[in-house]
Amino acid sequence: MRVQIDSGRCQGHALCVFNAGEFFDLDEVSSRAVTLFEQVPADLVDQVRSAQDNCPEGAISVTR
Ligand code: F3S
Repeated sequence: MRVQIDSGRCQGHALCVFNAGEFFDLDEVSSRAVTLFEQVPADLVDQVRSAQDNCPEGAISVTR
């Protein structure tokens, strides 16, 4: 499973970091979300899905 962040939509709300802090971080310069891994580790799938569901900008997409 892979994650894409639409940097045009991301406004740095950081709910993704709150929901899945082992997978998302905020870029120090842009304050937009970045991912810490290319693929989602199996034990973080539920957290990443929750981050996707809770992003108020709909900036997180998940693909297989
Ligand atoms: Fe950006 Fe959404 Fe996270 S706006 S910082 S991807 S909660």
